[in-house]
Amino acid sequence: MSIEERKRDHIRIALESESAQRGSNWLEYVHMIPRAVPDINVNDVEISATFLGRWFSAPFLIEGMTGGTEEGARINAVLAAAAERARIPMGVGSQRAGIVRPELRYTFRAAREAGQGAFLIANIGAAQLVKHGVGLAWEAVKMIEADALAIHVNLIQEIIQPEGDREFRGFLKLARDVCREIGVPVIVKEVGCGISYEDAVALKNIGISAVDVAGKGGTSWIEIERMRALDAGRHDRARLAEVFTDWGIPTAASVLEAVKVEGLEVVGSGGIRNGLEVAKLLLLGASMGGMAMPFLRAAVRGVEEVENLVRQLGEELKVTMALCGATNLAEFKKTQYILTGRLREWVEQRAASRLSLGPQPKL
Ligand SMILES: Cc1cc2nc3c(=O)[nH]c(=O)nc-3n(C[C@H](O)[C@H](O)[C@H](O)COP(=O)(O)O)c2cc1C
Repeated sequence: MSIEERKRDHIRIALESESAQRGSNWLEYVHMIPRAVPDINVNDVEISATFLGRWFSAPFLIEGMTGGTEEGARINAVLAAAAERARIPMGVGSQRAGIVRPELRYTFRAAREAGQGAFLIANIGAAQLVKHGVGLAWEAVKMIEADALAIHVNLIQEIIQPEGDREFRGFLKLARDVCREIGVPVIVKEVGCGISYEDAVALKNIGISAVDVAGKGGTSWIEIERMRALDAGRHDRARLAEVFTDWGIPTAASVLEAVKVEGLEVVGSGGIRNGLEVAKLLLLGASMGGMAMPFLRAAVRGVEEVENLVRQLGEELKVTMALCGATNLAEFKKTQYILTGRLREWVEQRAASRLSLGPQPKL
């Protein structure tokens, strides 16, 4: 199967199938303490945020999704035009297709052309970096004149895909070289299984500026690959996906893991669907809330729909902040919250085990 066909499949299944959304992101276990008598005018609430040293009008990030097909080019152009107008950052999807097939570059370039002043995040896969070396990162950044680079790690997805990669050795060393040479901030992102404290420490140590957790509880690549495997008659792969359907760290737990690493910025993502959930991520210590699926659904309906979504998310975040008595994000981050249920159990057990970090990867 060609990269183009695979990309088309991904968008189609993601849009058509509700079951591509998996379980809970555990944000329901995060509770803020509401204020009944705050001294506040709701219209004064201000949500501008900084991330990677840059100013944005809101702490929302359009997660990397697409490119490599005609439809991908259209979606990238719509998202980038909206990102520029709304002044929020945006990622493109994995640029491998544009690197191995130069005639597909335009499907990623479409983002830069539609959003000349947008903050754009290039995207490559860890397995591809291992295979092709640092040059791949250069090409991805150059292709869209990117402001940052995201390297996605997606072990379980690659393993389930019949055509996927299985060689991940040497990644940290290469990623360290990328951080040293590339000249833009480097983000490492998951795609639905979250990032642990141990990995966040290793990534900070090699010079990564931010992690984007993409935890469990949002779009599930395990489920999407299960459906593709079934369509292709690969029952062995479908069964593998089924066995690992619950694999990963739920988003709320993963954010709490990653924010423990000093000097590392954290994007909370994975099943984030409204401004109240973004507010919870910020309280847990994230700099931004990232969303893929909600922006994809809006993008297929056009730029205005994406802008409407950003406005709606902004309104929901502002209302949450007002209800907690805060007029800006710095104040809001001081709001008291409590953790309950499984998230609390997770945090308590990990606090005990974090004292010994275990073996660290050798470079
Ligand atoms: C259709 C689609 C395509 C995606 N393609 C990529 C990709 O190429 N590279 C990547 O790093 N993440 C990719 N992702 C993962 C998202 O960036 C995000 O981390 C994940 O979907 C969780 O967000 P969500 O629950 O809001 O969808 C994709 C997601 C979707 C829905």
